[in-house]
Amino acid sequence: MKITSVKGFHDILPEQSAQWSGIEAKARAIFASYGFGEIRLPILERTELFRRGIGEATDIVEKEMYTFADRDDTSLTLRPEGTASVVRAYVQHSLHQQAGFSKLFYVGPMFRRERPQKGRTRQFWQIGVEAIGRDDPGIDAEVILLMHDLLAAIGVRAPRIGINSLGCAACRPAYIETLAAYGRARVAALCENCTTRLERNPLRLLDCKVETCGVAMADAPLMLDCLCAECSAHFGRVRAALERESVPIELQPRMVRGLDYYCRTAFEATAEGLGAQNAVGGGGRYDKLVKTFGGPDAPGVGFALGVERLVLSMREPFDATLCPEVFLAPLGAASELDAIRMAHRLRSDGMRVEVGSGDKSLKSQMRLADKVGAPYVLIVGEEELAAGALTVRDMVAKRDHERAVGYPCAAAELRGMLERLSANELE
Ligand code: HAM
Repeated sequence: MKITSVKGFHDILPEQSAQWSGIEAKARAIFASYGFGEIRLPILERTELFRRGIGEATDIVEKEMYTFADRDDTSLTLRPEGTASVVRAYVQHSLHQQAGFSKLFYVGPMFRRERPQKGRTRQFWQIGVEAIGRDDPGIDAEVILLMHDLLAAIGVRAPRIGINSLGCAACRPAYIETLAAYGRARVAALCENCTTRLERNPLRLLDCKVETCGVAMADAPLMLDCLCAECSAHFGRVRAALERESVPIELQPRMVRGLDYYCRTAFEATAEGLGAQNAVGGGGRYDKLVKTFGGPDAPGVGFALGVERLVLSMREPFDATLCPEVFLAPLGAASELDAIRMAHRLRSDGMRVEVGSGDKSLKSQMRLADKVGAPYVLIVGEEELAAGALTVRDMVAKRDHERAVGYPCAAAELRGMLERLSANELE
């Protein structure tokens, strides 16, 4: 019986992988320009980190984590996101002492046991940033600007950024009370999940996808109308900075995000080409998380983009060319050694080279060269070597050029020659 990968866990084959690398390269360049340094995090963490960080009453912690007991019975979890780990590392390594302000980015796989569908997998990749140590609205705006620049550089189709404020410890509790009271008065119309949310996480009543809940909560009070003066001023300055940079943002007063650590600014990016799971990224401010993990009173803000979804929503794929520039076809076992030596030298000069097997006929090597998309084949035979010149076959024009290439031959020389061949300047 064939063994296949686990449901929701995918291989990323070379052509796809080239998209991953292209996206990562764009991200790394932009992160460097904004002054973010890379942090590489473990994939396994203590379960408690996510329970305390993301929140007991979230879907992620309640239903989606891959949690298991280690051999010594410690409960471990495959990380469902990166923020909690970054904050743990920030506290563990006392990063606040090294620099008043830390700007970190990460790239890596995350794990959530959700129902797989287009753009939703159980192992997925995130590219994320966290800026820890500043609570001013300017840094929120810069982080959103960074996300906007990145989506533009990747060429995501029709990106849209929604933004909301979730208030703070001063104004949110009273709002939650009002919201819960509103929900309780309509409990008969709410789905089973929302009935539980009423007690455990009333904010989530606002973004339930069940139609009857949507209708029941349509005129529910909104956090934006209940912000305290500080939160309101903060939000106004974030929006003003983004509007001034002409970042098109949409006010989304019902957006609440699926993780409990957020306060004040929350945002989400959507794009075309994704179907139901159209969020390519999301983030927000988390001012209490560092303290929750035993660190100083350091506020933070960040976001993460989902790489699978970025790939689905890109206007144009990155170039995934892996075809060899040239194929060396040795004639017989002795010539194979020369072909390997020549390929070794050309590759060390950065040329993409494929070598055939000296045990195979020239005809079958030509077939292979065609299959791998090599535009030229160099025939490496004893006679050719003795003459110090190799025959080149142009696979596109299906023509041979006798003694076109000297042996041995440097990559620059060979490339030059092949270019002249394709421009019909030789012969
Ligand atoms: P999140 O909204 O849960 O936020 O995830 C961010 C992005 O990860 C989503 O917008 C989506 O593109 C991708 N994603 C999430 N789940 C899946 C899945 N099952 N399959 C494919 N892609 C998925 C966070 O994780 C926060 N840690 C973001 C953050 C950073 N907030 C502050 N700093």
